[in-house]
Amino acid sequence: MRTDAHAPTIRLADYRLPDYLVESVELTLRLHPTATRVNARVRFYRNPARADEGAADLRLDGRGLTLVSATIDGVPVPQNALTEDSEGLTVAAAHVPSAFVWEAETEISPETNTALEGLYMSRGMYCTQCEAQGFRKITFWPDRPDVMTTFRVRIEGPADGSAPVLLSNGNLVGSGEGWAEWQDPWAKPSYLFALVAGDLRAVEDHFTTASGRDVLLQIWVRPGDEPRCAYAMDALKRSMRWDEETYGREYDLDRFMIVAVDDFNMGAMENKGLNIFNSRFVLASPETATDADYKSIETIIAHEYFHNWTGNRITCRDWFQLCLKEGLTVFRDQQFSADERSAGVKRIEDVLRLRATQFREDAGPLAHPVRPTEYIEINNFYTATVYEKGAEVIGMLRRLVGPEVYRKALDLYFERHDGQACTIEDWLRVFENVSGRDLSQFARWYSQAGTPRLKAETDWADGKFTLRLSQTTPPTPGQPEKAPLVLPVAFGLLGSDGSTLEAGLLEFSEAERAFGWELPERPVLSLLRGFSAPVIVEHEITPADRAFLLAHDSDSFTRWEAGRSFALAELTGPEGEPDPAYLAALVAVADDPALDPAYRALLLSLPSEDEVMAQIAAVGRAPDPLEVWRRRRALETAVARALGDRARALYDSNVVPGPYTPDADAAGRRALRGRALAALTALDPAGSVARAQYASADNMTERMTALSLLVSRGLGKKELAAFHSEWRHDRLVIDKWFTVQAALTPPETAVETVEALSRREDFDWRNPNRFRSLIGAFASGNPAGFHRADGSGYRLVVDWLIRLDSLNPQTTARLASLLGTWRMFDPGRQALMKAELERLAARPDLSRDTGEIVGRLLR
Ligand code: ARG
Ligand code: ZN
Repeated sequence: MRTDAHAPTIRLADYRLPDYLVESVELTLRLHPTATRVNARVRFYRNPARADEGAADLRLDGRGLTLVSATIDGVPVPQNALTEDSEGLTVAAAHVPSAFVWEAETEISPETNTALEGLYMSRGMYCTQCEAQGFRKITFWPDRPDVMTTFRVRIEGPADGSAPVLLSNGNLVGSGEGWAEWQDPWAKPSYLFALVAGDLRAVEDHFTTASGRDVLLQIWVRPGDEPRCAYAMDALKRSMRWDEETYGREYDLDRFMIVAVDDFNMGAMENKGLNIFNSRFVLASPETATDADYKSIETIIAHEYFHNWTGNRITCRDWFQLCLKEGLTVFRDQQFSADERSAGVKRIEDVLRLRATQFREDAGPLAHPVRPTEYIEINNFYTATVYEKGAEVIGMLRRLVGPEVYRKALDLYFERHDGQACTIEDWLRVFENVSGRDLSQFARWYSQAGTPRLKAETDWADGKFTLRLSQTTPPTPGQPEKAPLVLPVAFGLLGSDGSTLEAGLLEFSEAERAFGWELPERPVLSLLRGFSAPVIVEHEITPADRAFLLAHDSDSFTRWEAGRSFALAELTGPEGEPDPAYLAALVAVADDPALDPAYRALLLSLPSEDEVMAQIAAVGRAPDPLEVWRRRRALETAVARALGDRARALYDSNVVPGPYTPDADAAGRRALRGRALAALTALDPAGSVARAQYASADNMTERMTALSLLVSRGLGKKELAAFHSEWRHDRLVIDKWFTVQAALTPPETAVETVEALSRREDFDWRNPNRFRSLIGAFASGNPAGFHRADGSGYRLVVDWLIRLDSLNPQTTARLASLLGTWRMFDPGRQALMKAELERLAARPDLSRDTGEIVGRLLR
C-alpha cells in the first residue's frame, strides 16, 4: 500500500498537547538482521493538562512494524479495540485507563532498512537514527519531542556473535555474554534514543569537569580505524572545556560516547551520551584528511556535544521549533571555532556558507521562515534557513543586547527551562525578561521568510554626512507582503588617512530612516561590519572607495567584502580588462606580511560560480553558467598575471616546516600557498608546479590542492590513476577521488566523466557519502557542467535520483532541492530543468520526502 503521495500537511497552528505522557520505558531489543524483536514496556498516564477532556484514544505512531503482541496492564488488547494503519495504531478510549502499562512486541528488519532511519545496518553493524521521526520505525510510540521519559534498554546481540559491543544512551548498568543493559537517568524525547551494536573498538580518554567529576570518553570505530581518532578526541575535550568556560555548562553523565558509521544520511546526531557520526566527520589522519576535513570535524564534534544542553536538556516542543536547538547550537559551534581559530576568517567562511546555501534557498521556491509553519515531511526542513539563518538571528540578538546580557539570558534560559520541551516564544521571553526590551518586532525574524535588501545612500554637504537606509524583503512563496525587520547595522566612517571618525551599531527597524554625523571631512563608509545582519546590501560604491576599504578597513569582514564586490563587479559587468585599481589592491594585500595567511588566502580567492550567477540573477538577468565559468577563468588568469613573480615568492615562502599539523596557523599557510599555486597553474599549461607538489606532498591537503588544480585544467590523468590505486581500500579517500572529478572536470567533458564514473563498480551508490561524492558534487559543485545547454547534466542527475529514491528518500530529497534554481535560467534551460523535475514528480512510487520537495519546486 502506498500512501506517501497523499501525506497530509502538518501545521504549527494545529499543535495540541499530547493526550498521554510517559513515565518510564523499558526496551528490550533482540538483534537479528532481518527479524529483530523489540519489546517495549511503557508506563503511560493521561496528560493532566488534558484530563478534564475525559477519556482519549491512545494513538501511537509506527511505520513498517510487525505487531506481534500488545497488552495493557498485562491483558491482551482486544482485537476490536485496536486499529492499525500505515502510520500507527489506535486503542479505543474505552480500553485505556488513566494510568497503565503498555507492553508491545514488534518485529523489524534492520538489514533491509535502506532509508537509514530507525534501526538499520551499515556494513555489518547495527545503528539507529531517530531524529526526527525514526523511533516509530522501532516500536509503537507517541513519537513527538514533547513526550519525554527515562529509558532503560536491554540489548541482546545477534546469535552469531558478530556484534560483541552493545551500546545505548546513558550509563551501563549491567552486561554479560551477548547482552548489555543501559539506563539513561535523564528524561529525553524518543528522537534522542540510540543503539549501536557491532564489532567495534574504543579509543578512550578522560575528562574532568569543572566540578571535578571524571567522565569516560570513548570513540567507537571499526578495528583498524583507531589511529584516526586523535583529532576528534582532542576537539571533544576542547569543546567540553569551552562550554564550561563560555556558557557555564558541564557534562552530566559518567560517559560520553561517539560512534563512527559509514552509512549515514546527515553529518551527525546528538543522541544523549551516544553521538552517532558519519565516519567522515570523525576519522582523520594527515595522509587521508585535508585541512577542511579537520575543520569540519572540529565544528561538528563541538556542535553535537553542545546539543547536550541546547537540544537535549532543553529540547523542542514540536518540530516547528527546530531552530530553537539548531540555530542556537550552530551559533555556539561558530563561536567555538572562532575562539579556537581566527575569528575574522571564521566569520567570512560562515558568511560564504550562508550565502551559498541559505540565500540560495531564500531566492527560490523552497524559501521558508526560520520557524516554518507547515511541512509534509519534517526531514525536508533540516535546512540552511533553520540552521544557518537560525544562527544569524541569535548572533543579531547577541549584538543587540550585548555579550553580558546575552550571557545572563542564557543562564536564565538554562535555569528556567531545564528538562523542558520549549518554543521560540519561551526563548524570546527569556531575553525580554533579562534585557527589558520588547522583542515583538525582532520576532519577525522567525516568521518572515526571504533575504532583506538593505539599501544605503550617502550624502556629504556642509560638514554633515548623511546615511539614508531603507529596507525591503521580496515576496516568497505564501508571503507576498513583508514588514520591516530589526536590523543591527554595524558601521564605521573612515577618514582619508584610514582613521576611524565614527563607528558603532545602528538599530534600523523602520522601512527607511536617515542617520547624520558632523564630521571634519567626507568619510568612507564601511557598512555592515562583521556582517551584522543576514541581508543583501545595495550600496553604490565607487571603485576608489572600494580600493580604499580593501587597503584600510579595520574590520576584517568589510575589508574582505570590498575585494569581493570588486571581483563581482568585474565578473558581472561589461567584459574588458580588469580595473587596475582592483589588481593593485589585491597585489598589495597578497604581499602584506602583517595579514594572517588564512585571511590573505580568502582575499585572493574569487567568488564561486554560484555566487556570480546569483549576483547576475539579482539584477534580473539570466546567468549563462558556461559564460560565468569562462569569465571567472579569465579573471583568475588576470589576477595571476598581476601577481607575477609574487606568486612564486608566496609559494616558496609559505612552506610549512616540519610534520603536518592541522592547527589554524599551519592550515592558513597551506591555504595561502594553495592560492599561490593556483596562480602559478593559471599561467602554466602543463601544470608542472602542481604536478611536482602532488608528487612530493606528504599530506592530503597539499595533494588534493594539487590534484584539484590539475583536474580543473583538464590535466592529472596520471595522478588520478595513482591516487586511486594507492587508496582504493579507503572509502573516505576514494570519495574525494570521485568528488574532485565530478566538481572540477571542465565543462566540455564533465557530463561524460560523471557518467563514466557512475558506471564503475566502486560507485557504491547505496552509500550516501559515495552518492553525494559523485552525483551531489556534480550537481552542486560543477555548474558549468551540470547546466550544459543540451540538458544532459540534468538528465543524468535525475536518472540517479529516481534510482535512489526507492531506497533512500531523505538523501534523494536533499539532492533534488539542488534543482531549485531552475527559474533563474534562460528559457531553454528552464524548460529542460522543468521537464526533468516533472519526470521525477510523475514517478508513481515517489517518496513523501522527494514528492514534497519536487512539488514545491514546481509550484
Ligand atoms: N540534529 C542533527 C544535527 O544537527 C541532525 C539530524 C538530522 N536528521 C534528519 N534525519 N533530518 O546535528
Ligand atoms: Zn544540530
